[in-house]
Amino acid sequence: VRALVWERYGEPASVLRLEEVETPTPGEGEVQLRVVAAGVNALDPHLIAGEPWLVRVSGFGLRRPKRGRAGRDVAGVVTAVGPRVTRFAVGDEVLGTCGGSIAEVAVTAEDRLVAKPAALSFEAAAALPIAGITALEALLDVADVQPGQRVLVTGASGGVGTFAVQIAVALGAEVTAVCRGRNAELVRSLGATEVVDYTEEDWTARGQRYHAVVELAGRPSVRAVRRCLEPGGIHVLSGGEGGRLAGPVPRGLAAMALATVTDTRAKLFLATERAETLDALVGFVVEGRVRSVVEQTVPLAEATSAVEHLREGHTRGKTVVTVA
Ligand SMILES: NC(=O)c1ccc[n+]([C@@H]2O[C@H](COP(=O)([O-])OP(=O)(O)OC[C@H]3O[C@@H](n4cnc5c(N)ncnc54)[C@H](OP(=O)(O)O)[C@@H]3O)[C@@H](O)[C@H]2O)c1
Repeated sequence: VRALVWERYGEPASVLRLEEVETPTPGEGEVQLRVVAAGVNALDPHLIAGEPWLVRVSGFGLRRPKRGRAGRDVAGVVTAVGPRVTRFAVGDEVLGTCGGSIAEVAVTAEDRLVAKPAALSFEAAAALPIAGITALEALLDVADVQPGQRVLVTGASGGVGTFAVQIAVALGAEVTAVCRGRNAELVRSLGATEVVDYTEEDWTARGQRYHAVVELAGRPSVRAVRRCLEPGGIHVLSGGEGGRLAGPVPRGLAAMALATVTDTRAKLFLATERAETLDALVGFVVEGRVRSVVEQTVPLAEATSAVEHLREGHTRGKTVVTVA
């Protein structure tokens, strides 16, 4: 079967290759899928480049990638199940996460998958997992957003941001979206009531205060962000760009240190890949309160260009690779 692979760290366009690989088989508690669509995330080009270096020391391989299979978000059809799999059977349509989703066949643990509602297309399903889980956990678990609260989302036009705006609105918040002017209409259509064009205006200098600032792009000073929080408010840092060694971690730690001496909070967090969260997210989609914004779908043969697009950073929602 074909899979998008890389054997050394580097720019996606120079190291990614579509290659024939051995068909992966499911072990205990695992499910084999025929991949129909695979989502691409902002993290993918970082993993492929091995940057920041934190990626390499956290188990992906110091000098070369240990398992260079691209892609994590997946939607597909179950083709085989390993021993002790209880939730899925051959023929089920599912979505979730795995290692190496940009491939014709993928294998993953059953607890990283949920059933795909028939009304949800495979492309929309493949756009959901990591970006949607990140947005849901940021707003619900980390910021505990309540109806009527004011929430500001930076990077609102991106993969995570388009979900974050909609989920904050679904939770009853009043949302200010920070994005480029050309994306203002998009984020308003998702429910944002106020839009700040960051190329024209510094949102931290508007004298407004929010219960939560969900930071998905841009690097304003952590002090400036703190001044935009209500007492008890929270600065949620999902990552973002940073130095070549530790990426966003030093800034996240600085924000958390500052919070200890003020009446606000800050949290740098990593999304989990739990099926329960994905199920809750699918619930919002089924109710019609959240939808995937799919900017483009590209065929497997052009998957490298999809990863390149994420590296360039000017996304409008999600990019999906269609496989079958
Ligand atoms: N913690 C976690 O578990 C987790 C999970 C997923 C993602 N992340 C991180 O979250 C961040 C967002 O991910 P993503 O998938 O949404 O990325 P993305 O799809 O690349 O979206 C980023 C968006 O931000 C916009 N943007 C760029 N600079 C901006 C600025 N200064 N102010 C406001 N908007 C700006 C970009 O468009 P323009 O450049 O055209 O304005 C783009 O639409 C990334 O850093 C990613 O690594 C973390």
